[in-house]
Amino acid sequence: MKLKIALLAGDGIGPEVTQEAVNVLNAVAASGGHTFEYVPLLIGGAAIDAHGTPLPDETLQATLACDAALLGAVGDNKFNKLAPSERPEAGLLKIRSELGGFANLRPAVAYKALADNSPLRPEITEGADIMFVRELLGGLYFGQPRQWDKQTGRAHNTMVYTQEEVERVARIAFDIAAKRPKRKLTSVDKANVLECSQMWRFVVDQVAKDYPTVTVEHQLVDSMAIHLMNRPRDFDVVLTENLFGDILSDESGVITGSLGMLPSATLGGKVNLYEPVHGSAPDIAGQGKANPIGAILTAAMVLRFSANLEREAKIIEDAVVKVLEAGYRTSDIARGDIAGQTKVSTMEMGRLVLDRVEAEL
Ligand code: NAD
Ligand code: IPM
Ligand code: MN
Repeated sequence: MKLKIALLAGDGIGPEVTQEAVNVLNAVAASGGHTFEYVPLLIGGAAIDAHGTPLPDETLQATLACDAALLGAVGDNKFNKLAPSERPEAGLLKIRSELGGFANLRPAVAYKALADNSPLRPEITEGADIMFVRELLGGLYFGQPRQWDKQTGRAHNTMVYTQEEVERVARIAFDIAAKRPKRKLTSVDKANVLECSQMWRFVVDQVAKDYPTVTVEHQLVDSMAIHLMNRPRDFDVVLTENLFGDILSDESGVITGSLGMLPSATLGGKVNLYEPVHGSAPDIAGQGKANPIGAILTAAMVLRFSANLEREAKIIEDAVVKVLEAGYRTSDIARGDIAGQTKVSTMEMGRLVLDRVEAEL
């Protein structure tokens, strides 16, 4: 199998974790006789520094010519004073909208080996396995008009959804739920206040009629934030709009033990976009402290959704579990007070996973 992958490493820890993901992909390619070609491209702060824009046209065109895009992270504190449209994050939002993927899958799994890393008690997290389906191209992120009028001291953003936008992402979430053992879908909204959410709920109920095997429930986003922490095992597929999904998926890092563990895949557009959930982590960038597991699990999603290599994706996911069970920890998941843990760097963690992947391929 041949795959051309746009490599959008980005800023901060982005390049550090992306390299570890690529190493694992290369092992899969070497053992299976696959050809993965990488096209390194600038995005975010790195692109602003080189070309004055967070998404150069060359990056966009070259990515559109690839089969998949693997992104590290964008953002740096030095751009904090820029307007939203000029910041590194604008490059990410633009490429998301140009690639067209609207269904952002963000799995959050409670690993047994990390049970003591979560601030939640092990009996709360044990067995938790949630698939967030975050709508990625609508809502407040892209709604017009938007402005900060410094003259009048008034700023506004607009939350907009069309029924079609809700329906297409809901169908993907229901398709996923119908294939999972629990077959449950929780739709999260703010239907007690927002018209967008009332329409969201209406459309989800319409789509639900086509999926009689899936149990559907609706939750308001504010109480969902606490239900997720109190009883994460009760959730299976969680479908929600763009901003709510952004917030709840970061929150789910608590279930897993670290934001650095979470992968994502964005489907439904011209080119699938794969990125870990975490950001550029300027506080630890360049120190070899970043946890590459989120990026490595993202590589597994590339294999699953863009290469149809399910067995290899599973080998990567299992290798991560084995490394955690052997006690290896980057600093975000290390606990000095627990015996049997070995603290490792980003590269060491990448190598440990790679060794186990190579042994199983
Ligand atoms: P962040 O996710 O970068 O970091 C939050 C906290 O989690 C930090 O303490 C960080 O050290 C830690 N962390 C994150 N990833 C980690 C990893 N792999 N290993 C170990 N620790 C990790 O969020 P933030 O600090 O709010 O944002 C920093 C910048 O990243 C901002 O510019 C933001 O816009 C950007 N951002 C980008 C993306 C993306 O490109 N997909 C996602 C989120 C945030
Ligand atoms: C994420 C990030 C992005 C988002 C930012 C950096 C634009 O937080 O991927 O979760 O809000 O979608
Ligand atoms: Mn986020």
